[in-house]
Amino acid sequence: MLPTPRRARAGAPVPAAAGPAARFPGVAIYLAERRMGRSRRAFLARLALSKGFRVLDAYGSEVTHVVMEQTSAEEAACWLRGRAPAAPPGAVGPALLDISWFTESMAAGQPVPVEGRHRLEVAVPRKELPSPAWMLPYACQRPTPLTHHNTSLTEALETLAEAASFEGSEGRCLSFYRAASVLKALPCPVTAPSQLRGLPHFGEHSCRVIQELLEHGVCEEVERVRFSERYQTMKLFTQIFGVGIRTADRWYQEGLRTLDDLQEQHERLNKLQEAGLQHLQDLSTLVQRLDVEALQQLVEAAVSEALPGATVTLAGGFRRGKLQGHDVDFLITHPQEGQEVGLLARVLLILKEQGLILYHQHQRSQCEDRTWLAQQKNTMDAFERSFCIFRLPQPLGAAVEGSQRPCASWKAVRVDLVVAPISQFPFALLGWTGSRHFERELRRFSRKERGLWLNSHGLFDPEQKTLFHAASEEDIFRHLGLEYLPPEQRNA
Ligand code: UTP
Ligand code: MN
Repeated sequence: MLPTPRRARAGAPVPAAAGPAARFPGVAIYLAERRMGRSRRAFLARLALSKGFRVLDAYGSEVTHVVMEQTSAEEAACWLRGRAPAAPPGAVGPALLDISWFTESMAAGQPVPVEGRHRLEVAVPRKELPSPAWMLPYACQRPTPLTHHNTSLTEALETLAEAASFEGSEGRCLSFYRAASVLKALPCPVTAPSQLRGLPHFGEHSCRVIQELLEHGVCEEVERVRFSERYQTMKLFTQIFGVGIRTADRWYQEGLRTLDDLQEQHERLNKLQEAGLQHLQDLSTLVQRLDVEALQQLVEAAVSEALPGATVTLAGGFRRGKLQGHDVDFLITHPQEGQEVGLLARVLLILKEQGLILYHQHQRSQCEDRTWLAQQKNTMDAFERSFCIFRLPQPLGAAVEGSQRPCASWKAVRVDLVVAPISQFPFALLGWTGSRHFERELRRFSRKERGLWLNSHGLFDPEQKTLFHAASEEDIFRHLGLEYLPPEQRNA
């Protein structure tokens, strides 16, 4: 639908994997695009398909031969670590091969046996960091797994980022988040400040923080911030459901410091904040995966009752593989556009009748016209949604951690229910899967590198005034000329 984007031509995707005609069933090739470029990749894929090879567009467990170009063994190892979950013992992963295996196979008209000289050696676990030049600058260009090797360093930088956001210093806040995100993508721990040289987004300030941490185990500035009254109070207030930085700051300026201060002046609180404060203890306890599964079943049942055929998809941190989270995000849609209108109200009615809702705030869809939306640069989306606090039944005898009700029969859980029309669903899913930093980077990449505006409703070309149609998240990555990253690799 969208004509050629202005700055970078989104190359043709790899044609669908060859069907039953594939001549070599034991071989499934994946061409890694990193250094190859889109058009060359598409060309090579067509060539292989024409010779009866099977070429997969997305990396997955079926792939037997990964082909890379101008890639060192080191980089290949990082690339694979970013994609493949640890293989079960004894399992054989795909062969990581240089382009030479591919060209020889094409010339031979059949897969040539893999020899040592074709292989990018990756078997040895690396202790050293790869050359910084290979770290791509945008978080959406590199895989970021859930667990990484530099947690204490990233926590320090993120504390400074958060503190900067409390002061309204957007630029400083982003700098610290970007630096932290680079460390999350490294394949091993940073052990010396010199290893930061050449990494993107490592300015003088972030370097100094890391240097202190490496040398002394603590950073004076971070400690000072962490224990400051300002940071602690802002953290306490913003942790309340419905309280943003501006509100927290106003309360702080007015001299409020504690939850008791707020309780005493509860006429200041709106309904949402009052509910947040009332259930603060449960809501500040992390939601567990088992809770998420139970919630999904409850929401799915209510949604199917309200509209058969409508679907519920888990998004947010839990879709990225997190085992714990602050809330649960569900997207609701229906395969037939328009059927989703009015659905949310019916769903909530059903959930309420079951006694599952402690509080909810409904937000109507703020826009019916996609084109208008695409022109909005703001990051908030306008889907119909409900911010809920669920009353989630707990298995008998299960203790809610940190709760004063040790044998509580239920616990309060924050749930966002968001309704997206099917035509916008891939964008909504991409936007609501996060992480927040990953989304910020994806939008920045789209705007700066491609001249396109991305949000949770669509991808818009402001010059051509056209919207890009996408049937999946993969479509969106492809259109932006980015290698697809599965949700577990978006923990930037
Ligand atoms: P969350 O704030 O729920 O974060 O936003 P999370 O990653 O699930 O982690 P928890 O919940 O703190 O454990 C999830 C995604 O939804 C987007 C955010 O940008 C993030 O990418 N989001 C959230 C929106 O698009 N709009 C919103 O109003 C809220
Ligand atoms: Mn969430």
